[in-house]
Amino acid sequence: MNNRLLIGSLSTLALCAGLALAAEETPNPNVAEAKDIIKEFATQLQGELATAIKGNGPVEAINVCYDRAPAIAEDLSAQTGWEVGRTSLKARNVADNSPDDWETMVLKRFDERQADGEDVKTMAYAEVVEGEDGKRFRFMKAIPTSEICLACHGQEIAPEVVEALDAAYPDDQARGYSVGEVRGAFTLSKPL
Ligand code: HEC
Repeated sequence: MNNRLLIGSLSTLALCAGLALAAEETPNPNVAEAKDIIKEFATQLQGELATAIKGNGPVEAINVCYDRAPAIAEDLSAQTGWEVGRTSLKARNVADNSPDDWETMVLKRFDERQADGEDVKTMAYAEVVEGEDGKRFRFMKAIPTSEICLACHGQEIAPEVVEALDAAYPDDQARGYSVGEVRGAFTLSKPL
């Protein structure tokens, strides 16, 4: 009985490993492309953000997010043909970054997946969505809150940062986060 159980679980293991391998051998090219674009976006933005904070502090660094985040997204959209952006259930730039219905659903699931213990760093979701303008491939990748984010998105934000944020974003909802939470997501789509 014990032996049978052992053999059973071994072959299940082998099956899982085989499946995982097969999945890795045939990655969806759209997912791979979207991930590359996100890597580029994140690397550029976080590099500029870290440099700005170290150089001039968080108040000055707000401008990096204000100017550079939308500019980098626009450049990448123009270069790749994908629509590229960032979104959140609690957006700071409410006008530009608020989620649509599909994004809201995915973001809520990301929060549930985080509560269930999944690593936010690798959390993503892809779907072919039929819209008014035909079929689109849509992809979202969760953005975790890390230490560096707390200066502007955390629970205790310095008064001068609060003042600058209030001035630039009167409807700001993107405060009160802790390390490890889902801050938002990169959101990409392209027509199929
Ligand atoms: C110096 C202040 C500052 C820091 C530090 C900062 N952000 Fe932001 N963040 C902003 C501002 C300002 C915006 C609004 C940008 C815009 O207008 O599109 C923003 C917007 C965002 C958005 C887009 C959705 C929204 O709320 O409008 C995400 C996602 C985000 N930040 C994640 C992060 C993460 C993750 C970190 C840490 C790696 C981080 N931010 C660090 C200031 C900051």
